[in-house]
Amino acid sequence: MSFVIGSLQVCIALLALPVYILDILGAWEPVAKKVLPYVLDRFTTYYNNKMHSYKKALFSNMLDFAGPGGRLNLLEIGCGTGANFQFFPRGSHVTCMDPNPDFKRFLSKSVAENKHVRFESFVVASGEDMSGVTSSSIDVVVCTLVMCSVHSVEVVLKEVRRVLRPGGAFFFLEHVNADKSSWTYFFQQIYHPTWKRVFGGCHLIRETWKDIEKARFSELKLQHIWAPLKWNPGRTHIMGYAVK
Ligand SMILES: C[S@@+](CC[C@H](N)C(=O)[O-])C[C@H]1O[C@@H](n2cnc3c(N)ncnc32)[C@H](O)[C@@H]1O
Repeated sequence: MSFVIGSLQVCIALLALPVYILDILGAWEPVAKKVLPYVLDRFTTYYNNKMHSYKKALFSNMLDFAGPGGRLNLLEIGCGTGANFQFFPRGSHVTCMDPNPDFKRFLSKSVAENKHVRFESFVVASGEDMSGVTSSSIDVVVCTLVMCSVHSVEVVLKEVRRVLRPGGAFFFLEHVNADKSSWTYFFQQIYHPTWKRVFGGCHLIRETWKDIEKARFSELKLQHIWAPLKWNPGRTHIMGYAVK
């Protein structure tokens, strides 16, 4: 079986040969970083349309985690274009974080379109190093379609626990690998090496739920879902929240 998978991986890689060549020359990453915000801007409209009911349900109880006086300090990591703003509760104070500064322009558009949230700031940083955020200062951390691309899920989760106040919650919606006995997993394995190279280090086969389960949260609500994204090899998702 591994020979078949390996051969098919090579076939897919050949289709993306220009990307491999640019990557070997060190030219793909800077291009991908510039292009990704535009691609994501398009993808977000499609994704939010398909995932509207899931996101609405996921974020529906966020205000339960508001701090004293009902104020909700929310930190979104890997915020991208601000795709989740429309789902955040009215009056929430939102700080956004992303290692790619080129998202700022797209984020400003989302801020302008979502006057019900109070935008605080955009911090250029990765989830692995949130040293600019005070420990135990955040009520809710949000993370959607990010863990697939981070260098270390374990380190990001450690940082998430550090910045959350006790009783605060980590909300997530992530694509993960499918059941290992399924055809979906078979295809995910075939696409994985090329997918990762083309889409800025995005892993199609990550068992992110295992890291979340191990991250020593006091309460965890997690479900596996099939996102209604036809033909998308990343449609096996997890969603839920974990309380510090
Ligand atoms: C697929 S996009 C998702 C964006 C947004 N969360 C959404 O749901 O539309 C992945 C995002 O993760 C960001 N990212 C990549 N590596 C990261 C890291 N180590 N820490 C935090 N964000 C990261 C990327 O810059 C990008 O904005």
